[in-house]
Amino acid sequence: MKQATIIADRDFILGETDPRIFGSFIEHLGRAVYEGIYQPGSPFANEEGFRKDVLGLVQELGVPVVRYPGGNFVSGYHWEDGVGPKDQRPARVEPAWSVIETNQFGLNEFAAWAKEARSQVMMAVNLGTRGPEDARNLLEYCNFPKGSYYSDLRRSHGVEAPHNIKLWCLGNEMDGPWQMGHKTAAEYGRAAAETGRLMKMLDPSIELVACGSSNMTMPTFAQWEADVLDACYDEVDYISLHQYFENSADNTPEFLAGSVKMDQFISSVASICDYIQAKKHGKKKIHLSFDEWNVWYHSNEADKTLEKWVQAPHQLEDVYNFEDALLVGSLLITLLRHADRVKIACLAQLVNVIAPIMTSDTGAWRQTIFYPFAQASRYGRGTVLQTLVKSPVYESSYGDAPYLDAVLVENEEEGGLTLFAVNKSLEEGMEISCDLRQFAGYQVAEQSLLTHENLKAVNTEQDPFQVRPVSGGNAAIEGGRLTAVLPKQSWNVIRLEKRA
Ligand code: AHR
Repeated sequence: MKQATIIADRDFILGETDPRIFGSFIEHLGRAVYEGIYQPGSPFANEEGFRKDVLGLVQELGVPVVRYPGGNFVSGYHWEDGVGPKDQRPARVEPAWSVIETNQFGLNEFAAWAKEARSQVMMAVNLGTRGPEDARNLLEYCNFPKGSYYSDLRRSHGVEAPHNIKLWCLGNEMDGPWQMGHKTAAEYGRAAAETGRLMKMLDPSIELVACGSSNMTMPTFAQWEADVLDACYDEVDYISLHQYFENSADNTPEFLAGSVKMDQFISSVASICDYIQAKKHGKKKIHLSFDEWNVWYHSNEADKTLEKWVQAPHQLEDVYNFEDALLVGSLLITLLRHADRVKIACLAQLVNVIAPIMTSDTGAWRQTIFYPFAQASRYGRGTVLQTLVKSPVYESSYGDAPYLDAVLVENEEEGGLTLFAVNKSLEEGMEISCDLRQFAGYQVAEQSLLTHENLKAVNTEQDPFQVRPVSGGNAAIEGGRLTAVLPKQSWNVIRLEKRA
């Protein structure tokens, strides 16, 4: 049995969780939009064509913000194609994913869907093939009340009230050579600054996200962030981070060490933001928007066999297994452990495309990764405590990886204190001990466990509950000390409630 100690102090507060770290992402890609959130004619659709079963699962997942419409897609997108009467919308070739985009779903439909999903919209503008003026026009269409060309165009499309979208991404992955309109850091920094300036002239209440690196291993990583922020520090509020974790080498310990990589990525980007702030003698702290993260690439081989230039093919339909859920749990803990700096994060993506939710014509189901996300979103809001974890470690390519990832979040309003913990050991359970004498009155309400003998176990439409959390365990508080055994390879949510 392994052993670990967790130390938390009432006064050592990291920060409040920004609920937007439980965001997600819908791109016009594969079956995310069509057959995912939107399928008119389906027995599951409401009168607007939105799938009600998916809406229910999105609400259960708890996603306060959804990034839209891409991704690589946005870098060639003309938003005007997706508004107005549907019979007049053009079908276009879509080069990012080699498909046909019918434009039967566009920004007004998405804004209406987001409302029903109880989410805010995080809108991305095209800085690949387009520039500042189109971004400004789009903002005018979305946020200007009335009496101007684009606001009245929106009203003529039956949308009287402005959408009031507050969060905007200035392009997508502009450092990537695969991106339409790919730019150098100097070119992009300038475009982001000019676009941001123009957009804030129209609506100063918006917040802007500049593109950081597409992943930590990009050859331009770090210099890119520094150069871009040097150019647009005054105009932007956040810089983005993207990172996908590949699960293909059949080396589970190394795969699960991905949370160390995410941690290093976040710390590095925060340092660069601080360097630029210092260099500019600036007052503004640039925060981080980790607006694409997930496990990916199970679907690589299947994707190679897909026919090109068709509409809504089965692209990027990763089937997630149990060990993917363990890493997603650890990544959520890592995001929470950086709550002072990471204010937005988007699980990429939401439905059908590298997603926690899958659909077919006969139903919708939860993938394995759905559960840690839903629990973190439900119980991870509140005050994140600086949680010191003393755990045995193992070697990984990122350096020492702790067997135990953990964080404590207190929600005083709800009278709840929650410990999220992943035991990465594949051989042994872990006995944990945490001094909670400062947190008087708390009792264990539940230890929820997500574990499985088979690391490769999956949820499918035919067998949707192979992997799901159950209540159990032996978590207990005695003399102000919380103790529990975390089974080998497990995600744990130990919820404490204040009892009078
Ligand atoms: O999420 C899938 C793709 O991954 C996005 O379109 C792109 O931004 C990233 O490379």
